[in-house]
Amino acid sequence: MDVHEFRKLGYQVIDWIADYMDKGYEGPVTPNCQPGDLLKQIPTSPPQEAESGSQVLADFQEMILPLTSHWNDPRYMGYFPCNHSGAGILGELLSAGLNVNAMSWATSPAATELEMVMMRWLGELLGLNWPGTIQDTASTGTLCAMLAAREQVAAINADGYYGKKPLVAYASDQAHSSAIKAARIAGIGDAFLRAVPSNEQQAMNVTALKAMIEQDEQLGNVPFFVMATVGTTSTTAIDPVAEIADICVAKGIYLHVDAALAGTAAILPEMRWLMDGVAQADSFLFNPHKWMFTNFDCSAYFCKDPMQLKRALAIQPEYLKTEHDASVENFRDWSIQLGRRFRALKLWFVMRTMGVKGLQDRIRLHLEMAKWFAQQVADHPQLSLWSQPKLNTVCVYLDGDGQTESLMKRLNETGSVFLTHTVVNSRYLMRVSFGQTHQTWTHVHQLWKLIQDQLAAD
Ligand SMILES: Cc1ncc(COP(=O)(O)O)c(C=O)c1O
Repeated sequence: MDVHEFRKLGYQVIDWIADYMDKGYEGPVTPNCQPGDLLKQIPTSPPQEAESGSQVLADFQEMILPLTSHWNDPRYMGYFPCNHSGAGILGELLSAGLNVNAMSWATSPAATELEMVMMRWLGELLGLNWPGTIQDTASTGTLCAMLAAREQVAAINADGYYGKKPLVAYASDQAHSSAIKAARIAGIGDAFLRAVPSNEQQAMNVTALKAMIEQDEQLGNVPFFVMATVGTTSTTAIDPVAEIADICVAKGIYLHVDAALAGTAAILPEMRWLMDGVAQADSFLFNPHKWMFTNFDCSAYFCKDPMQLKRALAIQPEYLKTEHDASVENFRDWSIQLGRRFRALKLWFVMRTMGVKGLQDRIRLHLEMAKWFAQQVADHPQLSLWSQPKLNTVCVYLDGDGQTESLMKRLNETGSVFLTHTVVNSRYLMRVSFGQTHQTWTHVHQLWKLIQDQLAAD
């Protein structure tokens, strides 16, 4: 593709994205397709001769779009949001244009320093005065935290695990599965990641945590890592971080806080309570790529003492040494991978063009939507509310075996909404998660009407 074609096609692509954001996708929000439907359409080998970019764009519209789940459509209310914005997309585009490798300060001074400032800005919004870095995902952040904690208690990098006492990690039975993955990759093993029982509200039972730690100590094991969750994936339950921190501080155990979704809400002064106890922890993360209008991928990872992380991850081969190393941050030392994207650029675009007030207004709107929707459910004769939503996600059920699942299936089959489920204490719950950038009250009212119509048709 020469520069002329790039320019011409680029304008078309931006026009297409602008319409997509403005009008949403005209077809069903999730595709009605079977496995293999795309595989059938794409040749199994690449073309020998060059094809035109406009042909590829036409095929994108014809083949890819109909088989795509439209995650950023206002009707998409499944899982948690991963919302985007025009500003974020432009920042991403510029990042792709520059295509720098932000592994070291010297390889991209602007990328490194903008990342430092963006983390400072985000920290200020959360009331957290810690340095940080941008990881790709929360899963990677949790792995980094576990590796930092592991290196604190045992010199695994140098010596491996041979002859060491078992290290034990703890997270509630509602914690995200990335904790399990981290424990596997870090060599802790499923058997030594304790699932701490949760209470009625699905929050970690702190008494049980303390008892489990003490039992491990008696067995001669080494409790080294606790993960608290603020906003669990299933029901947005909130672990009592301050109480957990008291135990961790007393026992000298590393505490990591996963607020992948909920961290964004903490930028609202009235939601700042979500950060209670975090100052006593060792690391904290949240995903601007979930709810803060910053397209994939962007996970903000804060740590109280970066040396803990660097001791675990820093590595200094000759070919990467530069004269500035002693006086700068090289974010490769804070990351699993060496090569790093210039993610700070899209955050800079988002935060500057929305402003703190703009971000807060939109998050507040999503919380109000959740509250309004929960009230309709609570007032409805057939539907029940699992619990009052504290964040953007409302869990709903119908009495009767299979009723909730059947309702959700029928709603999704209309193509006018997409919802997902969870199961709590054997009860199937339909989750409605607000947070799309272009979601308005009209979409919320349409959803409520759709639900009522489905129930009336029963
Ligand atoms: C609480 C929580 N932690 C971690 C994750 C994993 O996020 P990521 O996809 O960024 O790894 C999720 C994803 O939904 C989540 O809800």
